[in-house]
Amino acid sequence: MAASEGARLRTVIVPDAEDLARLVADRIVAVIRRATAERGRCVLGLAAGSTPLGIYEELIRRCQAGEVSFAKVATFNLDEYWPIAPDDPRSFRRAMWHQLFAQLDIPPKSVHVPAGDTPRDAVPAACAAYERAIRAAGGMDFQLLGIGRDGHIGFNEPGSAADSRTRLVTLDAITRRDAAAQFGDEASVPREAITIGVATILEAREIALLAMGERKAEIVRRAVEGEPAAEVTATFLQRHPNATAYLDRAAASRLTRMGGQPEG
Ligand code: F6R
Repeated sequence: MAASEGARLRTVIVPDAEDLARLVADRIVAVIRRATAERGRCVLGLAAGSTPLGIYEELIRRCQAGEVSFAKVATFNLDEYWPIAPDDPRSFRRAMWHQLFAQLDIPPKSVHVPAGDTPRDAVPAACAAYERAIRAAGGMDFQLLGIGRDGHIGFNEPGSAADSRTRLVTLDAITRRDAAAQFGDEASVPREAITIGVATILEAREIALLAMGERKAEIVRRAVEGEPAAEVTATFLQRHPNATAYLDRAAASRLTRMGGQPEG
């Protein structure tokens, strides 16, 4: 494990994706144990997409081995395409159930994903209700984040304000291009999404930003070493007292202070 000294955001670099999955799963299990022991419950903010899949496999393995229980855990996903039917195989809700929730001992009522089938005129009230539900649950103990190639966290696309809250957003061209494979082609990717806001994310007690692979290396450099700016919303994490970027070597390869050669 290595850390980048030049970073404005605490950075942990591990050799590969498997190490990353184990390390972050360890952290999540520790948070679940501590929060449930102290307060009788734990609230996790979760991300869809490809980056967390190894972590989710680890969590399933540990839950099924009896090492950790999700019976007292509530989850809130970051975002969902809009409009999309909840049972559409390309929806984040369906993907998360398939890849994680169905294989855990979590009560279904404790799982929250923004509803992609909310009628447009009902979206503002649904977004406000999502914020209230997070607050009523006690706020996020741990927020897991991926990063888009445009620097987004959740679907807080470039230009999103630091004080933004859960809302309907227009997806960036890069985000839609990167989602084209799941939807068959770019034109079929929804143009909008519901996302929790930057301010909502920053209220989490602990935040883990994850990135793997060379294709994320340049945006990781900007997120970790760049000036805080709304063009790369991940830079807002620099102001959080307990946020860490967990990177594999490839994603860390452009960090200037690392010289592209992190220690294993
Ligand atoms: C997903 C989300 C997005 C992704 C990001 C990276 O819920 O909020 O911010 O985390 O686009 O996606 P992957 O992991 O597929 O590269």
